[in-house]
Amino acid sequence: MGLAFALPLAALLAFLCKVLYSSLSNRNGMRKNGCSAPPKLPQKDPVLGLDEFVKWARAMGDGSIIRMFRQRHEKLGKTFQGVMLGTNQIYTMDSKNIQTVLALDFDSYGLEPLRGGVGEYLVGKGIQTSDGPFHKYSRSLVRPTFARNNFANFASLQRHVDEFMGHIPRDSSTFDIQPLLQRLFLDEGTEFLFGESAKSLSPESPQEMNEFLNAHEYAMRGLSIRLQLGKTLQVLHQDKKWFECCRVIHRFLDRHVYRALELQEMRDKSVLLHEMARVTRDPLDLRNQIFHIFFDVKKNISTIVSNVFFNLSRHPKAWQKLRAEVLEIGDDELTVDVLKSKIYLRWVVNETFRIMPLAWATARLSLRDTLLPHGGGPKGTEPIFVPKGTRILVNWAALHMDRDYWGDDVEEWRPERWQDKKPTWEFLPFSGGPRICVAQQLALSQAYYVIVRLMREFKNIESRDSRPFDTTTRLGVSNKNGVKIVLTPA
Ligand code: HEM
Repeated sequence: MGLAFALPLAALLAFLCKVLYSSLSNRNGMRKNGCSAPPKLPQKDPVLGLDEFVKWARAMGDGSIIRMFRQRHEKLGKTFQGVMLGTNQIYTMDSKNIQTVLALDFDSYGLEPLRGGVGEYLVGKGIQTSDGPFHKYSRSLVRPTFARNNFANFASLQRHVDEFMGHIPRDSSTFDIQPLLQRLFLDEGTEFLFGESAKSLSPESPQEMNEFLNAHEYAMRGLSIRLQLGKTLQVLHQDKKWFECCRVIHRFLDRHVYRALELQEMRDKSVLLHEMARVTRDPLDLRNQIFHIFFDVKKNISTIVSNVFFNLSRHPKAWQKLRAEVLEIGDDELTVDVLKSKIYLRWVVNETFRIMPLAWATARLSLRDTLLPHGGGPKGTEPIFVPKGTRILVNWAALHMDRDYWGDDVEEWRPERWQDKKPTWEFLPFSGGPRICVAQQLALSQAYYVIVRLMREFKNIESRDSRPFDTTTRLGVSNKNGVKIVLTPA
């Protein structure tokens, strides 16, 4: 037998032995720990799970991934298992299991094996791709700036919102508020990160910033291809333009990094990069870490505010009720405390997060053999054995639609439901546990601020798009068709 046959045969045998060995040791682990298996996803290819990979890629592409998983959970229960690209997967929307993965048994799970090392030419290790001590260190770099109430007086946001208001038509013409809000939060976010605003709302947007943003847009598409290919196969992605875009990004970031390092005592305390430069003097580390934060600046807050306006434009009573609450503030200064005291505002934002969560799911890999408390056996009440190397998909979108907790009207956008709800692990728009969003307070305060400013200035809202919300997950869960409305000045 030639080498050409012997090698693939040996590889196949090794693979089969691995499958057999892990199936035996899983059965052993299950028996020892009194566990039962969760239901299985019906698959044409239950060994390699290539069918699942194709379905997943398709559903991501056409925006049906959230629906696909909800339907699966409805059929199979809150926790079930499957295989994708040779890796065992557990899919869960069970709040106890989610709490276990994200908090109670945090150290048994990681995301570095899933995300680390992918696209390293573009961006190295940082908060979004690391586990353990490096992750702790990364959070310590940014936490003081996010925790400090230095955004409480909204000084810079106020300036950007003033400019943003000038772009809103006051003659009853229809406009799309979604891209405008993206520009608003891009301007605010870049000023907060680098000390220099993208000025995308103003005519004098800096050339270098524009180049950076265009390069970033292209580079992110390449990065998502690389994430799909994984650490080993990413070499197949050899796009010259992608490498050029990476260099443009590095030049831009390095200029800000070296400036932050030179500033020493002249640093601006409200600029995140300047504050990070107090802790590390390593330019490459600073470049990577600030880039990890920039991933989130570009999209998140604008998406939740757009979604709030999508819902308000279709619920005139909620608009009137919220406006009455906003007008109670009178001419008082908008501080974080004032905004947080507004109950209906909180309900409106929460209800929007519930039904349109910005992050629909997250994945972790088990780093050792461990257990999940629920999901096994015929009633899904027994613990599950989780062998090392299992990928867990925590599904926040399905969690927020759990009829057992939210009632039968889960599909309905109804802020009043929050009157008697005080969820803990049943509602996780910012995740939970040691990896909870570092910017939660900043994001909520800024979203509240912009909503209130708009509602002070406009007395009515009308939707100019009768189509239902058409989900895309590209910028968090947002509407493919934008948010087309008319606002009537007060
Ligand atoms: C409404 C706005 C936002 C929402 C709903 C949100 C939600 C989330 C969620 C769900 C996670 C966990 C992701 C995971 O575990 O896979 C997360 C993590 C994170 N978010 Fe946010 N986010 C928002 C805004 C922001 C902003 C504006 C920034 C930066 C300025 C930011 C920075 C981060 C960072 C750095 C992490 C990673 C934390 C870690 O792994 O330790 N987020 N966010």
